Amino acid sequence: MAEIGRWRACGAALLLAAALSGPLAMAQSEPAVRDVVVWDVPALDQLPDDDFGRLARYGRSVVEATYAHIGPAVTDEAARFAGNNLACASCHLEAGLKKFGLPLVAASADYPAYSTRSGEVASLFDRVNQCMRRSLNGRPMPEDFRPMRAILAYLEVLSTNVPHDAAIAGAAAGRMPELDRAADRARGAQVYARECADCHRRDGLGVRRNETLPQMGYAVPPLWGDDSFNDGAGLARLITLANFVHDNMPNGTSWVAPTLTPPDAWDVAAFVASQPRPRLAGLERDFPDLLLKPVDAPYGPFADGFSQEQHRFGPFAPIRAEIARLKAERGAIDNPNAR
Ligand code: HEC
Ligand code: HEC
Repeated sequence: MAEIGRWRACGAALLLAAALSGPLAMAQSEPAVRDVVVWDVPALDQLPDDDFGRLARYGRSVVEATYAHIGPAVTDEAARFAGNNLACASCHLEAGLKKFGLPLVAASADYPAYSTRSGEVASLFDRVNQCMRRSLNGRPMPEDFRPMRAILAYLEVLSTNVPHDAAIAGAAAGRMPELDRAADRARGAQVYARECADCHRRDGLGVRRNETLPQMGYAVPPLWGDDSFNDGAGLARLITLANFVHDNMPNGTSWVAPTLTPPDAWDVAAFVASQPRPRLAGLERDFPDLLLKPVDAPYGPFADGFSQEQHRFGPFAPIRAEIARLKAERGAIDNPNAR
């Protein structure tokens, strides 16, 4: 928490942060940013066999097999923090070590950071719990809970050689060109049948390792339905989902040689994003300044006059232009639902 104090003291940085859209944007815009092009991640297995080394290795296991440690079907009821049987590594591919596969290599160096979603400075602990509530459709873990401490230790090791606020190569899920039309769900259904259904199945529910033991997780995770991420998750946003799919799916694909064309990736993402999934209550309170809400947030309220449909499926350029105009004119627009 001392870290947050330091941030609060740094008013100028906070103001700047407030004008931008998150840790990544912040890292790209501050003059002091150092780019880390070569990833220099210590080998977990070579850490000493002491308390910290063991904790960090346990953390890797929690990230890779989340369902087995804190999933909704684990034997110890008090440990059931996740609401679905995904793993962190279902999305943070290769346990956070894959370029454009939502890597976690810089996470520990990115935080604390201003969160436009909550309107507060978030610690890394807070950020992990956001994925717990949204991507894992569960509840936050306490700070002294061993799996949480283990995740934070693991993330700390990944960021060992990343300077604070550095921008890493291969961050997030990439950014392919956008379409100047709305993404097309019907066309996406055809792409899904051709490129995804063999693994994720026609019904999108994935393939469990064991039908009667959900705590063994998935050979292929579900993309929608009760055991998927909820509508407040990062992957429920079209831009994030489409880029993730473009750079990483079919599983094994690398950003170096994507399998899908950008239009196919946008359309299949629209198809997946329009399927049923758990709902998170209170989403209308997110983003206390509506001008800092990502253009592809699939839920209102919105500061601009565009429909929810266009926020969900694009095209996004006209929304971005209107937001820029409103920013110049009004600076900020308060969310009437924010706490
Ligand atoms: C359903 C997919 C999914 C799952 C499962 C998931 N995450 Fe995330 N996570 C994301 C996405 C997407 C983002 C980036 C969101 C954005 O673009 O703002 C993210 C962001 C993060 C960040 C911030 C990274 C940074 O550098 O800013 C951390 C830390 C994180 N997740 C940790 C975890 C941990 C730990 C787990 C497991 C307990 C987990 N996530 C599970 C999708 C997921
Ligand atoms: C070869 C099998 C395979 C194919 C084909 C495939 N996937 Fe996946 N997908 C996976 C696996 C396995 C994971 C989890 C990665 C891991 O655990 O390492 C995954 C993860 C995902 C995730 C993040 C986790 C989640 O549950 O939401 C999304 C989104 C996704 N795939 C979408 C797609 C889409 C869309 C397509 C078609 C364009 C596709 N995948 C094709 C195997 C596949």
